[in-house]
Amino acid sequence: MLYSDKVMDHFEHPRNVGEIEHADGVGQVGNPKCGDIMKMYLKIDGDVITDVKFKTFGCGSAIATSSMATEMIKGKTIAEAMTLTNAAVAEALDGLPAYKMHCSVLAEEAIKAALADYYRRQGREVPEALRLPCEDEEHGCCSCGH
Ligand code: FES
Repeated sequence: MLYSDKVMDHFEHPRNVGEIEHADGVGQVGNPKCGDIMKMYLKIDGDVITDVKFKTFGCGSAIATSSMATEMIKGKTIAEAMTLTNAAVAEALDGLPAYKMHCSVLAEEAIKAALADYYRRQGREVPEALRLPCEDEEHGCCSCGH
């Protein structure tokens, strides 16, 4: 079987799909390898992520990883969410085929972009850990969707 039962479950029944009105942070990223797009919305109270929703225009692995990632950060602190990696999301899904690992990067980057947006809206400096590569370099392959 190419995909685990968990990947299939999150692909067929994705959790936390949609938008949050008046979100505290919104992040959109694109995958330069395939053109797929993911948008993440966060509601934050204090330093806790109280709600999270996403919309993904992309492949099944991108949808499954977004869904799992939202479950993994809901109710967690900003600091905890900041450390979530695409590898941890893929592991929580019992793995992804190697050639689909790049799809899981979208989820990690969308969360980071949404958290960075939250910091900006607060007038606070964006922590180093939330800066996507495209914000530091002019290498012409921006994946932040801005
Ligand atoms: Fe584009 Fe998976 S093929 S994110």
